[in-house]
Amino acid sequence: MKPKTKLPEHIAIIMDGNGRWATSKGLARKEGHKEGSLAIDRLMDIAIEIGIKNISLYAFSTENWKRPIAEVRAIFGLLEDFIDSRLDSILSKNIKILHSGSRKMIPPGSLKRIDRAVDVTANNKGIVINFCLNYGSQDEILNAFHKIIQNRLKKKKSLEKEIKPEEMEEALYTYPLPPVDMLIRTAGEKRVSNFLLWQIAYAEIYFTDTLWPDFDKKSLHDALDWYASRTRKFGGLEK
Ligand code: FPP
Repeated sequence: MKPKTKLPEHIAIIMDGNGRWATSKGLARKEGHKEGSLAIDRLMDIAIEIGIKNISLYAFSTENWKRPIAEVRAIFGLLEDFIDSRLDSILSKNIKILHSGSRKMIPPGSLKRIDRAVDVTANNKGIVINFCLNYGSQDEILNAFHKIIQNRLKKKKSLEKEIKPEEMEEALYTYPLPPVDMLIRTAGEKRVSNFLLWQIAYAEIYFTDTLWPDFDKKSLHDALDWYASRTRKFGGLEK
């Protein structure tokens, strides 16, 4: 493969279609999530090879609590297995793990593993993999306002002063990640589902019918080729 001329600095992915992948093969939905976690493994290696700097993965939304408890448990169980079995290889590949989302309600065992992964990879300088877990953009924005107010009260600063974009960004779960350049959604649905609404303001949005468990090297290259063909104007005029 040729090196890409224009790479997104931050890719966000809505990993949709695990359930459909499993159902189409006569398997239980949790088998689709399991195969989805293998697709994450594959993606990390390909992204390192290509030189992508940051990837945010929508692993569990604030709305996914509406799913049957067995499925919720299966997803958190997979996350725990993922960290337990791969932390050494994550470290050796210089991957830095981040978590974006609310800590409330995440099972303690999962929180312990995610905190450990964030902690032990904190000084890694390679690709950043940001697990968006118990993440919802509306929750993130409300939480950011709350943090700003608390911070101003603590520092005895005025609550009247206008909020600048930088102050808002520092209060988001994703800080200090850069804005999203390309949002990928798999499995054919065309919506953004409460994912990184602030951060995708000028993102290029790529939809593919490929189900997440089938997302492979070619799928990522297709998305990156499409991205390289886009002209980004950020509301201005073409240069
Ligand atoms: C959406 O597909 C997928 C999710 C809600 C969960 C994503 C989880 C993983 C990829 C595996 C978790 C593992 C780790 C390591 C975080 P869907 O279930 O909504 O699919 P459907 O629309 O076909 O039913």
